[in-house]
Amino acid sequence: MPTPFLAGNWKMNKTIDEALAFVEAVKGPLEAIDAVDYGICAPFTALAPLHDAVAGTRIKLGAQNMYWEESGAFTGEISPLMLKGLCENVVIGHSERRQYFGETDETVNRKIKAALEHGLQPIVCVGENLEQNEAEQTEEVVSTQVRGAFADLREDQVRDIVIAYEPIWAIGTGKAATPEQANDVIGNVVRATVADMFGTDVAEQMVIQYGGSIKPANVEELMSQPEINGGLVGGASLDPESFVTLVQVTYEVKIQNAGMGG
Ligand code: 13P
Repeated sequence: MPTPFLAGNWKMNKTIDEALAFVEAVKGPLEAIDAVDYGICAPFTALAPLHDAVAGTRIKLGAQNMYWEESGAFTGEISPLMLKGLCENVVIGHSERRQYFGETDETVNRKIKAALEHGLQPIVCVGENLEQNEAEQTEEVVSTQVRGAFADLREDQVRDIVIAYEPIWAIGTGKAATPEQANDVIGNVVRATVADMFGTDVAEQMVIQYGGSIKPANVEELMSQPEINGGLVGGASLDPESFVTLVQVTYEVKIQNAGMGG
């Protein structure tokens, strides 16, 4: 089983002071949790101070985007070289970036390659919108996104990637996918497409998260699904207490109840 990974995506929230206060609050309660990975994808401005604040903890840090070039005349952009050493992860192709900032499967693919080249672990987001879901195009849309994102990658590169299946209709709406729906798309579309491209071995080892209105009230049933290896959480990751609960429940469901831990 891949190591479960629960990540918060703070989106455009938290000043440096707020980010540091969050880490202070979650550090102690999370100390006892092993065998699952957890982390925060923070705004660029908070990454350097957070890097120091999480030292000595198991909290992984991630960015929410980056450009694929190493340096140059790209005003306002952040390069993989700038992130290297500051964080381990980088979210790539979040639906909000696809929707508001013109990202496509092709730019997602370029960013993934650049991240891997510089030792950053991508969290690649895929997911269908409401209209596509209602038209029963989920399989086609999501498999096309996975194929586009992973075009020309080698098997050994894909092993290091995390995918987040985030149905757009479930993001920030309070209406999560049902555990069965999420499990079905992750297993039969996302993992199946990776298996088709790179083999079942790679697909089975890959961490595939669910994202979209995860909260303390529904995290247990979502994490109980076998194909779901963790979560990418927006709103409910902003509050320290809620974040700690999400990580704790993931640990209980995936490790303790499964008899995999001490
Ligand atoms: P919410 O958890 O706020 O629905 O956001 C999900 C998301 O987009 C995480 O990347």
